[in-house]
Amino acid sequence: MSQQAEWLRQMFDMEDFRHTGHALIDLLANQLTNDIKGQSNILNWQEPQIADQLWQQPLPEVSNLDSKGLLQWLQHTVIPRNLAVHHPHNFGHQIATPLPLTALCDLVAALTNQAMAIYETGPSATLIERQVIRWLNTAVGWNAGDGVLTSGGAQANLTALLAARQHAADVWQQGLQNARPMRILASKFSHYSVSRAAGIMGLGTDAVIAIEVDANGRMLPDALQAAHEQCIATNQIVMAVVATAGCTPTGSLDPLQAIGEYCQSHSVWLHVDGAHGASALLSNQHKALLKGIELADSLVWDGHKLLYMPATVSAVLFRDKDASYSAFAQDASYLFQGNDAEAESFNISYRTLECTKRMMGLKLWAAFSLYGRQGLAQLIDHAFAQAKKMASKILANPQLELLMLPDTNIICFRYQDLTLSPEHGNRLQSRIRQHIVASGSFHFTQVEINGVIWLRCTLMNPFTSEVDMDELIAMVRHTATSLSETSTSQ
Ligand SMILES: Cc1ncc(COP(=O)(O)O)c(C=O)c1O
Repeated sequence: MSQQAEWLRQMFDMEDFRHTGHALIDLLANQLTNDIKGQSNILNWQEPQIADQLWQQPLPEVSNLDSKGLLQWLQHTVIPRNLAVHHPHNFGHQIATPLPLTALCDLVAALTNQAMAIYETGPSATLIERQVIRWLNTAVGWNAGDGVLTSGGAQANLTALLAARQHAADVWQQGLQNARPMRILASKFSHYSVSRAAGIMGLGTDAVIAIEVDANGRMLPDALQAAHEQCIATNQIVMAVVATAGCTPTGSLDPLQAIGEYCQSHSVWLHVDGAHGASALLSNQHKALLKGIELADSLVWDGHKLLYMPATVSAVLFRDKDASYSAFAQDASYLFQGNDAEAESFNISYRTLECTKRMMGLKLWAAFSLYGRQGLAQLIDHAFAQAKKMASKILANPQLELLMLPDTNIICFRYQDLTLSPEHGNRLQSRIRQHIVASGSFHFTQVEINGVIWLRCTLMNPFTSEVDMDELIAMVRHTATSLSETSTSQ
């Protein structure tokens, strides 16, 4: 056998693939079982500069690993250094505990490698994505809507804002030089991807005007109106208002009805960043929280947050089908043959930044098909209820201060030590967090709001129980006391 034939035989050895695959599924199932039971640390923390020393090997010139070695490497080196998102002590970022069967769909997506730029390079991937987009649109209440799946909410926000800008002024071909200054009005709690989109679009991040929020972190409609009127008075175009449904720091929901009515009556594009909270649309119990979302022109909805998908899958939806084509324009005869509009609508890359795109719809389609809207709604209802429970535990604890009652499933609190200056109080919160995270007991985050640091928990792991919440609260209190003792004894 020639050397080349031998390489090929090894690379595409289906028996090896079959055996390794079965063993890998066993490994992952065992790992997930342990993680869900909380049988090991949620994180085996190592300083990155030290951990990085393991990954300094030279580029292998020839094979130095077989499939058994690969499995061992995964089992003993890679997986133990992961953040165990299924662990009940995961109170961290808005990262889903993925539904295991949907992860299998991602394996199908990887191995069948449907490029999806055009219908021909992914027929079922395209049709599945269109089906999922129709389902999500139906949940919003949009019958004539359309949209596309993207790799993440940041890219989805960029896509929606590009469409909004094109709606405000036709700048695609000639750029901004002849356009009036454009502004985006967004809550001061909007996600950084909004200001990043302004930077990418050449507007400059200063083009995003931060609108004040109330004590519950919700955008103030009066402040929005004042900023809008100021833009008009100074001859600036407001290309979009961005309302956030589930803002990142606190999970607060902007008042969508009031903002939507204002935008409609002033003919301003309303984009709702529902990356986090739009999933509440599936819940009979919670969808009223999003009343007014249907007034938006565009909406971002992340699957890999409260739809419990493996990353990444985000939807950018448009109330008006035609608007879903506004973000991009292209001339590429190698892809598009200028067929009639109906036929071309099956070529998805007209609407995305991506050309080659992963088959992202399959896992969402599978989740809806396997568990139905009602099943997914259970997860969302549970997450929101857990956050309320945790908030009430914090309120019942005089040494802890709760920032606000949760609108969704994020809560912020801090350990109160009234003897400390604001600066030392902030430092204490950070040290509490660093200490607990480094111990591998819990994962949670922190956020600075108006110069004050808060400990931030996202409740979205269905395996987190009240006992876990009590343990975290006890550990925060205990750590705060012992840190205070060490700093006074030094
Ligand atoms: C409100 C909001 N919008 C957008 C994003 C960005 O989403 P992604 O991380 O999927 O790019 C996030 C991420 O946390 C978010 O919370």
